[in-house]
Amino acid sequence: MTDKALLNVLAGKTAEIPPIWLMRQAGRYLPEYRAIRAEAGSFVDLCLNPEMAAEVTLQPIRRFGMDGAILFSDILIVPYGLGQPLRFVEGKGPVLEPVRDRAALKSLDINGLTERVGNVYETVSRVRAALPAETTLIGFSGSPWTVITYMVEGGSSKDYAATKRWAYSDPEGFQELIDIVVEGTIIYLLGQAKAGAEVLKLFDSWAGVLSSRLFRMAVLEPTKKIVSAVKAQYPDLPIIGFPRAAGAHYLDYIEETGVDAVAVDTAMPLPWAVENIQTKMPIQGNLDPIALLAGGAGLEAEVESILSTAASKPFIFNLGHGILPTTPIEHVEQLVRQVRAGR
Ligand code: CP3
Repeated sequence: MTDKALLNVLAGKTAEIPPIWLMRQAGRYLPEYRAIRAEAGSFVDLCLNPEMAAEVTLQPIRRFGMDGAILFSDILIVPYGLGQPLRFVEGKGPVLEPVRDRAALKSLDINGLTERVGNVYETVSRVRAALPAETTLIGFSGSPWTVITYMVEGGSSKDYAATKRWAYSDPEGFQELIDIVVEGTIIYLLGQAKAGAEVLKLFDSWAGVLSSRLFRMAVLEPTKKIVSAVKAQYPDLPIIGFPRAAGAHYLDYIEETGVDAVAVDTAMPLPWAVENIQTKMPIQGNLDPIALLAGGAGLEAEVESILSTAASKPFIFNLGHGILPTTPIEHVEQLVRQVRAGR
């Protein structure tokens, strides 16, 4: 046993009170985040400013005493590191210069990645040095499929049509893109591990839109490669996978990828996850971010239902997707109070 509740659960222990942290816990719903964000210049500048990014990572720890601190960065820092132009446009989200075909792959530069993203490692070591003894530092990366959707579409998308079309019509070329992103992701995660990340999480937010063949090609195989490359150097570093909304594909994911735990999304029935996943590994989840936004008795009932269903085996309390920018801070306080009050 360690002093860190989150690490203990990831090692397979059941906690009396489950550890809690929230996806996107650092962000626009916090006034102290908005203040730094306004000073930072662009969002990418903020991600690459170790002093500011470390400060923003620590804000939700100071305010709520979360058990996990998630590095402040973004999944699109890997494409940025590969030399793909990236900016965030107010009200629109990320905008990238799309990579649409094999010819465009030549513009990606794996050799420049370490230098372009090195500041993030500096953020990791600053946060690690500043965290309370009981708080676990979580590093992360996007998973190749989700990151690639942004790289190919040039930003957010409703149906990922250009990305899927490439995968179906030119599987060899698409595999080359996957291989580049896998390599970049491994470098990026190893850099975070070396700098002091204690857990790593792989966000595959759009894993739920794939046929079984594409799920194997774009999610299972790349994730397996990343996990085994990280474990080859850091065998004891726990990795949480999040193949969001992947439904029954979660079963292949937990069997094949080598992750130590999975985050489950809001739409996954928790009793099913308890029976089919938690018997094999710890699970994390899965409060609806809208229930947190709504607050009150509805929130209380959802939290109670999650705790009574999943907290008697290794469990980490979290949302089923990221916190929304309009979430009232008092609702987060209410949530933390209820979880900490026990079952
Ligand atoms: O969880 C945390 O607190 C750590 C930081 C973090 C951010 N993004 C900060 C961020 C993490 C882990 C992410 C992951 C991420 N980024 C994902 C996967 C998780 C998920 O929510 O599905 C995805 C798909 C992205 C890509 C991304 N980043 C988009 C589509 C956007 C724009 C939409 C939006 O919410 O504004 C971002 C921007 C972003 N990343 C913000 C933050 C705090 C908001 C930007 C701002 O403050 O101006």
